[in-house]
Amino acid sequence: MKILAIETSCDETAVSILEASGDTKRATFTVLGNALLSQIEKHQEYGGVFPTLAKREHQRNIIPLLEASLQEAGLLFDQENTTTIDRSLFDAVREEPLIASLETFVKTHARPNVDALAVTYGPGLEPALWVGITVAEALSKVWNIPLIPINHMEGHIVSSLVKDGVIDEPKFPILALLISGGHTELVLMKDWLQYELIGQTLDDAVGEAFDKVARMLGLPYPGGPQISKLAEEHRESGATHAIKLPRPMLHSNTCDFSFSGLKTSVLYLLKEFPELSDDTRKEIAREFEDSVSDVLIAKTKEAISRTGAHTVVVGGGVSANKEIRRRFKNEIHGDDVTVAIPDPHLSTDNAVMIALAAYYRHLLDKVPQGPLAAKGNLSLAKE
Ligand code: KG4
Ligand code: ZN
Repeated sequence: MKILAIETSCDETAVSILEASGDTKRATFTVLGNALLSQIEKHQEYGGVFPTLAKREHQRNIIPLLEASLQEAGLLFDQENTTTIDRSLFDAVREEPLIASLETFVKTHARPNVDALAVTYGPGLEPALWVGITVAEALSKVWNIPLIPINHMEGHIVSSLVKDGVIDEPKFPILALLISGGHTELVLMKDWLQYELIGQTLDDAVGEAFDKVARMLGLPYPGGPQISKLAEEHRESGATHAIKLPRPMLHSNTCDFSFSGLKTSVLYLLKEFPELSDDTRKEIAREFEDSVSDVLIAKTKEAISRTGAHTVVVGGGVSANKEIRRRFKNEIHGDDVTVAIPDPHLSTDNAVMIALAAYYRHLLDKVPQGPLAAKGNLSLAKE
């Protein structure tokens, strides 16, 4: 089947078309269309994602991205007969410029050959989520095809399982470490799409800590890739490494995390360096990354021993981090534990992962029913 998926939960507007076949034992996927626009540069001056701006940018870009994705998939055809569209189908969209471009889009293009739509309904920024939801709902009504609402974090988990376009059923339970700008949690997937929360951050998310520490070091948003680059340079230079930061909650005897103290430690440390040299900046970046990696590895090991997980997946934007990927591959193993980390291009937000999760929702007949609403704090474990 072909699934068209829309993702607008944060600062990426993305539309993908995925061809999926097979069952939960072995499923095969081909990305037919994948259009993505990052708003990162627009948010940079705010030092983080600014919700109203995100919403406006999603509204501006969603229809052009729909067209681009359909075009790439070879599914964009002109409408042969001029049809009249019942405008009330777009009522939920509310914003007039978007209604007008949506109307033009469905009037000028023929209904594409896709079997289902999928859309992220949480977690994320609600004003941003609503853009994707209302457009997906309108298209579902106009084209008369089903709409599958998807939890963004489920997208990160399922996409971690893809290897060369195939998902072979992993050995359950799966332990997922989800690390992004808004989340840091260890979630157990006991069987397909059945979750239990094992641990979570008590304060800042890992990505948020990367972003805040980067800002303290005078680096632009998003800080993760910047810190990672400096830390790698420090490692490769073989320079000595004297700065020490704490490993928060390493011995807390829980699977929970805390990163705000680490951030404060960097703040105090910086007071010792009124003039920050490039070398010191690199050393701090490296020590910060080492501290985060130590904690993530230790908590994941603790969670494996508590849950008997056979598969570990690492998902979310921070899993693009080279050092974290390396350490998980080298240090998390055992007779009966395998580690799966998505390709870096699938680690950061995209709509392919939403389509992948939608395929499993469809296969397992577990599509959320009822009125669809944006849920900023949507949690996997409480669904
Ligand atoms: O999953 P994601 O794209 O968006 C959500 O937060 O949902 O994650 C974005 C986060 C940002 O905090 C960014 O700094 C972080 O992922 N990130 C990284 C790297 N690439 C992105 N953090 C560390 N190292 C990286 N290479
Ligand atoms: Zn994400």
